[in-house]
Order: sequence, then C-alpha cells, then structure tokens
Amino acid sequence: MQLQTKPEFDFESYLLARRKLVEDRLALYLVEQEPARLWQSMRYSVLSGGKRLRAMLTLAAAEAIAANKNIDGQQKLDPIEIALPCACAIEMVHAMSLVHDDLPCLDNDDLRRGKPTNHKVYGEALALLAGDGLLMLANEILIEHSKDVAATDLLAVVRELCRATGPSGMVGGQVKDMEFTGSDDTKFDIATVESIHSGKTGALIRFSLWSGGKLMGANETQLASLYRLGEILGLAFQITDDLLDVTGDAKTLGKTPGKDEATKKATWVRAIGIDGARQKLSEMESEGITLIEKSALDISGAPVLKALLKYAIHRQK
Ligand code: IPE
Ligand code: IPE
Ligand code: MG
Ligand code: MG
Ligand code: MG
Repeated sequence: MQLQTKPEFDFESYLLARRKLVEDRLALYLVEQEPARLWQSMRYSVLSGGKRLRAMLTLAAAEAIAANKNIDGQQKLDPIEIALPCACAIEMVHAMSLVHDDLPCLDNDDLRRGKPTNHKVYGEALALLAGDGLLMLANEILIEHSKDVAATDLLAVVRELCRATGPSGMVGGQVKDMEFTGSDDTKFDIATVESIHSGKTGALIRFSLWSGGKLMGANETQLASLYRLGEILGLAFQITDDLLDVTGDAKTLGKTPGKDEATKKATWVRAIGIDGARQKLSEMESEGITLIEKSALDISGAPVLKALLKYAIHRQK
C-alpha cells in the first residue's frame, strides 16, 4: 500500500489568490462616484498594490475558527464571505493611515508602494479628505456588507475597529511617534518604543486577527489566542519595518529608505541596534510559532497562520 503524503502548502499561490480576492472586492466597494476627484484619490491609495497582510490575517483567522467549528459538526458558514467585508474595511483604514502618515506635516514622504504619494498627485487638501472619506467608508462597508453575523458580534467588531484606529490605537500611536521624532537621545526606553508601535502598527494588526475570529463566532479562548498572536505579529511587523528602513532599497521597498535615521525616529534599530532588533525578531517568531502550535488554533488554519507570521518577519518589502 502506498503512503499518502499530505501535499505541501503552497504559500506563494495562496498569497496571490488571496490578494486577488481582496483587490477585486475592494475595487467593487470603491467604484467611482461623485465627487469624482475624491473617489479617484481614495482609489489611488487603496488600489495601489500593498501586501494586503492585514486582510489576509482576518481571512486566515476566520478560516481557522471555521475549521474548528466544522470539526465540531456545527453549522457550515463560508468564512471568506463572512470576513471579506471586514478585511476590506481594514485595508481602507490602513490605506488612510498611510495617506496621512505620508503628509508633509507627518513623515513628509514622496514615495509609497512605488508611486508618488497621494498628496503629491492630488494635493494636501484632497489627501486629507480622501483619508477621512476612507475612514468612514470602511465602517459603512463593514456594517452594510457583513452577512450571517449576529448583530451583537458585528457591533463588537465595529467598536473594536474604532478603538484600534482611534486615540487608544493607531492615532494615539502616531501622536506618540510624532512626540518622539527628532530626539538625539537614542537610549529610548524599550517600553516607550513598544508603546508607540503597539499603537501605530500593532492595534490594527491585532484587530485584523481578532475580528476574523469574532465574526466567525470564536469562543473566548480562541479570541485570546488570536489577540496574543496579533500582539506578537504586530510587534514583529514593525521591527521588520524599522530594519527594512535601514537595510532596504527604494526599488524593492516602494518607499524611501533611511528616513527613520534622518528624522530621528524612536525605532527598534535606533534603540537596540540592527543585531538587537534581529535578535528580538527571532524571539518573537519562536513565541508566535509556539503559540499557534499550542493554542486552540492548532488546526487546519495553522499552516496559513504560521506562514503569515514568517512572511511578516522575513519579507523584503
Ligand atoms: C506600512 O505597512 C506601514 C506600517 C504600519 C509599518 P505595510 O508594510 O503593510 O504597507 P503595505 O500595505 O504593504 O503597502
Ligand atoms: C506608519 O509607520 C504607521 C502608520 C501608517 C499608522 P511608519 O511611518 O514607520 O510607516 P512607513 O515606514 O512610512 O511605511
Ligand atoms: Mg510614520
Ligand atoms: Mg512613514
Ligand atoms: Mg517605517
């Protein structure tokens, strides 16, 4: 009798397929309307490539929970259909954060995803308003298009998206980032760096994983595992972003490298050096893998979650 070997998980094809799914749905949600220039500006920054990592985390979390449910013989719901509006909403909020992050009053960047930044094409006023528009459109889409989700769960997801984006999340983190920009003192206390990054990058990544689970009706234990994985992944993601700012090139990154040193940002590299940041990353990776294997997530969704964790850490852009 021939032994059946499990086919290897083809992560490259998975990334391409998932990206297409997300891109197609985003294009549908962003069909040009009046005022045309506003929609063009929003479309420019959402439909401009990007890794779509946050959207993939939401979909992967929903699938992991759905796999658990099916094992239990409970009702079969399509996790992708359930989580896709939320995944797209997150990408809109993320795009908004990038448009505003690049403005002259914040990081003053000319290049994003290999193209001129939004304000370089549409001007600062429209870039500001396109960001505002995306922020509210994201919530509208999440509420209008989420199907087969209990109203109380959807309400909890909307509330958490507001929290992850607002003063206790991304916006708060960006303000802390701004307050620590330009300091000559590179002996940042690690707690400060963690707190900045936990807000500006971590909050939306934590929400990405958590929301996929919540929309699929995950239990408290599963939600706690997804949240913790989000903490690890969010931190690791920003350490990698800080490392790439030092080691990457503009063509690969699609954004201008060397900005953090030039503007004296409170980054992991400036706080603990390149080797220290790499060491920290490797610790985060081990912790994340252990969590996925030991937690209630060690099911068919695990190869994807593990691969996404490694991708967030070992990516070149
Ligand atoms: C860049 O995010 C901004 C940070 C939060 C560090 P990504 O590296 O995910 O950007 P895209 O979406 O792939 O362009
Ligand atoms: C940006 O962090 C985080 C948000 C957009 C919320 P960075 O300023 O480090 O991101 P990049 O390097 O410009 O992509
Ligand atoms: Mg910034
Ligand atoms: Mg920036
Ligand atoms: Mg950066």
